[in-house]
Amino acid sequence: MKLLSPSATATSSLPSSAFLPSHSNGFQNLGFSSATFKFSKNKGRCIRKAGSTNITAKFELKPPPYPLDALEPIMSRDTFEYHWGKHHRAYVDNLNKQIDETDLDGKSLEETIVIAYNNGDILPAFNNAAQVWNHDFFWESMKPGGGGKPSGELLKLIERDFGSFEKFVEQFKLAAATQFGSGWAWLAYKESRLDVGNAVNPLATEEDKKLVVLKSPNAVNPLVWNHHHPLLTIDVWEHAYYLDYQNRRPDYISVFMDKLVSWEAVSSRLEKAKAIIAEREREEEEKRREEEEKSTTDEAEPTPEIFADSDTD
Ligand SMILES: [Fe+2]
Repeated sequence: MKLLSPSATATSSLPSSAFLPSHSNGFQNLGFSSATFKFSKNKGRCIRKAGSTNITAKFELKPPPYPLDALEPIMSRDTFEYHWGKHHRAYVDNLNKQIDETDLDGKSLEETIVIAYNNGDILPAFNNAAQVWNHDFFWESMKPGGGGKPSGELLKLIERDFGSFEKFVEQFKLAAATQFGSGWAWLAYKESRLDVGNAVNPLATEEDKKLVVLKSPNAVNPLVWNHHHPLLTIDVWEHAYYLDYQNRRPDYISVFMDKLVSWEAVSSRLEKAKAIIAEREREEEEKRREEEEKSTTDEAEPTPEIFADSDTD
């Protein structure tokens, strides 16, 4: 189990999938009814055309992928009304105020998180941006009738990397229970090449392409850490469970694992992470081959002889 390091560096490729938060579509709650909208795919933002000027629309509060009472009695409608309706909404509203007319205005949510994390020297917008993303990811990590055991490749990897599904659950619960104060516990797929800078032929670490359990304080999430692909999370801020479980965080964690986790979402995220990694490896291999070919060509070409002019000739 590892605590996300404040010295971590920003990841260069950010994951996305049907089960990853996306602020690239859906314009409800924006409050614009008659303006013409133009969606910018690259920025994941919505642009409102108003006369000759473009006004960048704000991030929206995305609803959970099920009705607010769908997880009752395990997670009550009251909890959702406060947790999503008030806390999550406040993160969105505060973020929009913080980025207004700054360099972050117009960036995607994921870009905002990585830039504002600033290698651990956190800028003001980080907490709200990360909390918006974390909560979207959390809602999508659950489903009515969830829990139980995963299957297929995900289960095989869990058994390979933790010894057994039961040992994984034990480790995840421990991470969630022991996160001091507010924070999150995560299951992530660690791509984990060494951060080697200019090293030649870096060796893989023992943790390459491996599932890992992490915990993080406050709003920190694995997006800020190089080569970590988040697959599952649980919110262990008190606002996540206090109405239903008061101070009994371990009970909330247990019921989350037993009856709420959407293993379908986790499997989908794993599949997407592996596709991203495979694509990056293909690109790197291609680049390496091109450099080798260029090097071979350069060696094959004869070095032109250089004759110095001499005044004595
Ligand atoms: Fe929360």
